[in-house]
Amino acid sequence: MSQSRLASCIPLPIDNKLLISVVEKAKDWALMHGVGMRDKKHFSKDSIQIAPFVLLPSPFPRTEFTKAIELQPVLNELMHKVAHNDEFLEKTLQNALQVDDFTAKLYDVWLKVREEGITQSLSLGLFRSDYLMQQPDSNRIKQVEFNTVAASFGAITSNLPTMYRYVMRQLGHGELIKNMPENRALSGLCSGIIEAYDLFAVPSAVVIFVVEEVSYNICDQRFHEFEISEKRPDIMIYRKTLGEIYEETELNDKKQLILDGQPVAVVYYRSGYEPDQYPSTKEWDARLRVERSSAIKCPSIHYQLAGTKKVQQALAAPGVLETFMSEGAVTSRVRDIFTGLYSLDFDEGGERAVEMALADAEKFVLKPQREGGGNNLYGADVREALLRMRHSRERAAYILMERILPPLVSGYVVRPGAAVPPPLSDLVSELGIFGVIIGNKDKIYCNRQVGHMLRTKLADANEGGVAAGLGALDSPYLLDL
Ligand SMILES: Nc1ncnc2c1ncn2[C@@H]1O[C@H](COP(=O)(O)OP(=O)(O)O)[C@@H](O)[C@H]1O
Ligand SMILES: [Mg+2]
Repeated sequence: MSQSRLASCIPLPIDNKLLISVVEKAKDWALMHGVGMRDKKHFSKDSIQIAPFVLLPSPFPRTEFTKAIELQPVLNELMHKVAHNDEFLEKTLQNALQVDDFTAKLYDVWLKVREEGITQSLSLGLFRSDYLMQQPDSNRIKQVEFNTVAASFGAITSNLPTMYRYVMRQLGHGELIKNMPENRALSGLCSGIIEAYDLFAVPSAVVIFVVEEVSYNICDQRFHEFEISEKRPDIMIYRKTLGEIYEETELNDKKQLILDGQPVAVVYYRSGYEPDQYPSTKEWDARLRVERSSAIKCPSIHYQLAGTKKVQQALAAPGVLETFMSEGAVTSRVRDIFTGLYSLDFDEGGERAVEMALADAEKFVLKPQREGGGNNLYGADVREALLRMRHSRERAAYILMERILPPLVSGYVVRPGAAVPPPLSDLVSELGIFGVIIGNKDKIYCNRQVGHMLRTKLADANEGGVAAGLGALDSPYLLDL
């Protein structure tokens, strides 16, 4: 099927001379406002380079954007309930746990904490729900995944509306700025950390950001630190790797996590979502220590488990949503954003899913229980993997998902080190909506939608991770269709 196209915000192509000049201006704007990342090839703490971005804001239907925003608190609450339903998590994950060592280790931490008795009942969620438009279904949004751990780019993308206002004026189209929504994701996400800090209510407590050994996406993390420091000069933030947490923290008799003599109020994970980030047992020990402590975790281990692909698939199965939400208009709106999701367990349904995917592999994506991009299989690889795993228990670690076919948009991707002017390319966009929630099993203290991000990739690329170098940062240009 040929993919339909959404109209770009201004007529394209842009005249070459104007294009070169506007790209130069936009790059400088980006560099001077932290739309940047560290250079992976020539890493230096003294410099950042531009993060890939698209020159113009990409079109997105206003009704679908509004729908995604309205649904965010509903999805926050749904995931909160899922995370607090031990039986559902166990039942949903049990087959994957047999074959997926990483998920099993996370689950093991959860079991240990539960056996011991939970010290901190509150969890902080800084979530992001991701969507692609389904072009054969009138460009209605379909959920790609729900991120409960280290959901990134809320900070950098909060700067983008200002950048695009500047770009649009340079192109002589200032009148179109009204169609570009503001984005307050950074302040919204930080307000979640601050509220959790205040609920912890211990003067002189500190906050830990759990970070990688080397942070390439440094701007997106540091902006949170700057924002919190500005709003709350009393809150000290430490950046620590899991290895450093192992070496430098301890639990006191009240199960407070102590760093440099101070209790830790909030632990915000920007790392810890993939196996490589736990190179030894030390990192797992550190994770367990944090989970056992009274610190409020973002995410707590059960929030992280609720964000697995397996849970997403289970929620889409007939009748499951209704066990978490009462039947009604809101529930059917949530069901409407789900696309076909199938378990590959060894049962009748799993066999049917295997047959279906082998018959038409192009229509599906095969996903393991991993985060961070680059793990999914597409097209011929789906077929090959299913033929290989068909009779192996390994297949239960995967889910099968209907492939979403988004509409094309035309645009220019600006990349560090790439030739100027960039070529006019066919692109597709993925919307992410940020949500904040704080609560425990009995009470939700705050639950809101706080902002968005758009990232855009070449139409023929399977994945669009910006940190992985495939996607480009973007901001929606709302269309009234
Ligand atoms: N069902 C799908 N249809 C089309 N593209 C998909 C689908 N699922 C995932 N993708 C693409 O793959 C990327 C990564 O998949 P995702 O489920 O978000 O996993 P990860 O946890 O690795 O980010 C998405 O950002 C999207 O570009
Ligand atoms: Mg993703």
